[in-house]
Amino acid sequence: MNLNKTLFKRVYALCFSLLMIIVSYNNFYNNFLGNPGVYFYHKDIERATYGNYYNNDAKYHNNSNKFNVDNDDPYKHTNIEGEGVITRDAIKELNISNDQYFYFKYIGRVDTRKLDRDTIIRCKGLDDKFYYIVRKPYYPNQKLDMEIWSDYIVDFEAPKKKLSSRNVPRTLISMEPQPNRTCEFDKDCFEFFNFKVSFESQSDIRMGFDTPSSSAYKLYNKLTIDEIAKIQTQFKLEYQVMKHNNTLQPHQKSIPLANWFCTNCNSHSNRNEYVQELMKFIVVDSFGKCLKNMPTSNFLSRGSGDPFERKRLFITRYKFTIVFENSICKDYVSEKVLDALIAGSVPIFMGHPSTIKYLPLNSYIFVGDFKNAEHLANHLKFLSENDNEYFKLHTWRTNQTVIDQWKGVNNYPNKPGFRFREVQCPILRHYQRLKTGKIPLKKLKYKPMNQVCLPSNYYKIK
Ligand SMILES: *[C@@H]1O[C@H](CO)[C@@H](O)[C@H](O)[C@H]1NC(C)=O
Ligand SMILES: *[C@@H]1O[C@H](CO)[C@@H](O)[C@H](O)[C@H]1NC(C)=O
Ligand SMILES: *[C@@H]1O[C@H](CO)[C@@H](O)[C@H](O)[C@H]1NC(C)=O
Ligand SMILES: *[C@@H]1O[C@H](CO)[C@@H](O)[C@H](O)[C@H]1NC(C)=O
Ligand SMILES: *[C@@H]1O[C@H](CO)[C@@H](O)[C@H](O)[C@H]1NC(C)=O
Repeated sequence: MNLNKTLFKRVYALCFSLLMIIVSYNNFYNNFLGNPGVYFYHKDIERATYGNYYNNDAKYHNNSNKFNVDNDDPYKHTNIEGEGVITRDAIKELNISNDQYFYFKYIGRVDTRKLDRDTIIRCKGLDDKFYYIVRKPYYPNQKLDMEIWSDYIVDFEAPKKKLSSRNVPRTLISMEPQPNRTCEFDKDCFEFFNFKVSFESQSDIRMGFDTPSSSAYKLYNKLTIDEIAKIQTQFKLEYQVMKHNNTLQPHQKSIPLANWFCTNCNSHSNRNEYVQELMKFIVVDSFGKCLKNMPTSNFLSRGSGDPFERKRLFITRYKFTIVFENSICKDYVSEKVLDALIAGSVPIFMGHPSTIKYLPLNSYIFVGDFKNAEHLANHLKFLSENDNEYFKLHTWRTNQTVIDQWKGVNNYPNKPGFRFREVQCPILRHYQRLKTGKIPLKKLKYKPMNQVCLPSNYYKIK
């Protein structure tokens, strides 16, 4: 045990150097420790944003909201006191019996630095007892209750690993848009699984969407409408000064109406092309890699503290924020739209029509409502020149009916967040439902791509 641990620690440290070493790490793991363990390195680790689960677990599982949707974890206790991460020391005192452990093997991407390696998750079971998930490498022949496979093009190797799969319920988990999954549109692979954990409405356990700083969804009404108006007026003045000072960017022929942050320019949604066309009619400040026309320092240099918070305050100055999803797939909405809503900037939203219901009523501009980019641009110009009309898109902030309805559909804040660690307890309870015969062990039901995603040219650009 100790030897393994030391070895593991050493390998773990090496992981952060070269890819070469990663390869040998995986070999080491496979050869010496048998099946792939809980922890896997993969090259995209830097991108993963696992937030501070430790402080937020319980509140994500508060199911007292009357608007619960059907496939949320239907655990009815509103008081999940004691659920979450506990310390190693605590476990000694707790005298946990073996049947209180839930053993699963995670196959796929896990952030080894941040994802609670060696920590213990305490979950309330269906019978009100506590159960425990200990995050440590999986050893061959150890007791196993469930396999959890991450479906993501970067780390999924289903065809190869199927053979080594054990005869236990298999959960497919993905936080990626559907086209970026390996298994989603491969019938054979898909039906190899029993449960799905994802953001889609057909999932067995449904994840919510979340902003990088995990309590951000609560901040949607942090700014009053007056404050938003004030910040935007201030921006107008700044624009005039910069014009006078000759410090504007070349594209800023008139006041920028919208901002755009995008780093993945080759999406499944032609969003880059759409924005390019939009830029012919209105001024868009682009900060990401795609169609970049603004220095990054422009917003990063402002203020201090949490960069997400800084970004949010920065985009408040823009009447609109372009939020184009990289895939137009059922139920797929990333956290960006929430960021815009929280910032007080009206999202110009492109996503699957099924996702509109996840946004507060009259809080957004939907690309699908316009014939093409020029028509959309004309509407944006109209709104920017008519405060009365523009600010109607902010009145939801103080309308409890709209907010309740929004939370109901999207079930904020009751869904587990968009992170693996937040769905561990719901998964455990799902397993218990299965074991106690409350739900059958079914196979996932495959749907072809065209029933899930719309083609990239779905929204007409010209
Ligand atoms: C759950 O949410 C309800 C309504 O938002 C709240 O009144 C209650 O205190 C919450 N319970 C817990 C344990 O957080
Ligand atoms: C631990 O639990 C077992 C039964 O579950 C019991 O027999 C034993 O006395 C307990 N030990 C301590 C130190 O509480
Ligand atoms: C504009 O120029 C004035 C005087 O030259 C200077 O004080 C001010 O800081 C400048 N403002 C901006 C936004 O560049
Ligand atoms: C998802 O798919 C798009 C389009 O093919 C691609 O550009 C992007 O890199 C993929 N994302 C990830 C994280 O692999
Ligand atoms: C709040 O929104 C609802 C639903 O759109 C609407 O019927 C109602 O008039 C709004 N209330 C106020 C005070 O604007």
